Amino acid sequence: MDTILEISNLSKSFGSVQALKNISLKIREKEFYGLLGPNGAGKTTTINIISTVMEPDTGNVSINHFDLKKDPVKCKKSNGVVPQEIALYNEFSAYENLMF
Ligand SMILES: Nc1ncnc2c1ncn2[C@@H]1O[C@H](COP(=O)(O)OP(=O)(O)OP(=O)(O)O)[C@@H](O)[C@H]1O
Ligand SMILES: [Mg+2]
Repeated sequence: MDTILEISNLSKSFGSVQALKNISLKIREKEFYGLLGPNGAGKTTTINIISTVMEPDTGNVSINHFDLKKDPVKCKKSNGVVPQEIALYNEFSAYENLMF
């Protein structure tokens, strides 16, 4: 099966807190994954990095074979995120919010 998401050796610290320590995983076509872990495990940090909201300290991410650092826009076009809280802009139309 084709690899859709590949994460290798992702690390991220916030001051003295190491949120991610060398995370690696590969998700292939037609596979479904859930990220499970206690509060503070680093789930949101991982999703934030995959969606380009946050930069990792080390490591690489590729989505649909596009490198997140080299082709962030192509990665974002291959990626959909539903945030935990409602994140709609009032100044955007429904269509514009969807496209954003
Ligand atoms: N912007 C930030 N500044 C400082 N520390 C942060 C920041 N974001 C996350 N952290 C810390 O990094 C660690 C991982 O947090 P993260 O939010 O990724 O965990 P989580 O698995 O999503 O937790 P939850 O289940 O509570 O949503 C925690 O110790 C958290 O306090
Ligand atoms: Mg979270």
